[in-house]
Amino acid sequence: MYPTLLRGGCGQIRVMMANIMKIMAGNSNRALTEAIAAYLKVPLTKCQVRRFADMEVFVEIQENVRGQDVFIVQSTSFPANDHLMEILIMTDACRRASARRITAVIPYFGYARQDRKAGPRTPISAKLVANMITHAGADRVLTVDLHAGQIQGFFDIPTDNLFSAPVMVRDIKERMDISNVMVVSPDVGGVVRARALAKRIDAPLAIVDKRRERAGESEVMNIIGDVTGKDCILVDDIVDSGGTLCNAADALLAKGAREVSAYITHGVLSGGAVARISSSRLKELVLTDTIQPTEAVRVSRNIRVISISPLIGEAIARTAKEESVSSLFD
Ligand code: R5P
Repeated sequence: MYPTLLRGGCGQIRVMMANIMKIMAGNSNRALTEAIAAYLKVPLTKCQVRRFADMEVFVEIQENVRGQDVFIVQSTSFPANDHLMEILIMTDACRRASARRITAVIPYFGYARQDRKAGPRTPISAKLVANMITHAGADRVLTVDLHAGQIQGFFDIPTDNLFSAPVMVRDIKERMDISNVMVVSPDVGGVVRARALAKRIDAPLAIVDKRRERAGESEVMNIIGDVTGKDCILVDDIVDSGGTLCNAADALLAKGAREVSAYITHGVLSGGAVARISSSRLKELVLTDTIQPTEAVRVSRNIRVISISPLIGEAIARTAKEESVSSLFD
């Protein structure tokens, strides 16, 4: 859309700046950004994000963004600190180039697990990172399945937390007989997320309750709910080492589940996680592409990736048009 010239009441010409949308990619997940841009039918804004010899980040926006509605897409995934610096510096560059509004689109918001003081003299890094993004000049944040919903409150700017559930539900309905499905939260902390998905497919809910009775003793896994003969779907926000997932799958199968799959939003998959999952008893792990899948993920025998790009694309379109984003989840 282009600026429109309108005649005001007194005959002066008013310049109405229509929404001119710019989509910019950091280096964390260019494929996702390209898919979002394709959904929106806008070209990616030309922008170079590169390194000096000492690995400092340098950004050069190669198009005019003055007065425009800019969306910078960047997950703060591995290498988390480099990708965080990239979005901070891209935001600074847009602000100094007089962008009208800057939305930090952070499909995977890293540092989210450090959302409280876990012990004396420890940081709340999620809050620090939220401050950094705000101070760099972001006007809004758009993210997906925050580790804890309260992290929205760490930002003193509007923050939309999208839910991947509708994307997962569509996939589940296409591939499974939902009459025999049981949704399972792999820990007590994930119950709200798992319950929300269970409700959407009208399935019962079970919970894996991990307990370590005494320090030094191994963890005991109790299953709350009868999973006998069920096709269990583990639902979580993050898979990192894969330990939570693989242990929960073993516990469910030991309690008589027929099969166990998992739907997880953010595939952090550090270290040997992909190998661990490939050799586990999980029938399938379905991830979204908030984090760019590695080659190991792409060739894995039991990991499949579904795209979140239409959901993020639609949320961006609605933000640009000042329309409701929450109604995407009604
Ligand atoms: C924890 O609260 C998260 O929701 C995930 O369950 C956790 O990050 C998974 O980590 P891992 O794969 O290393 O067990």
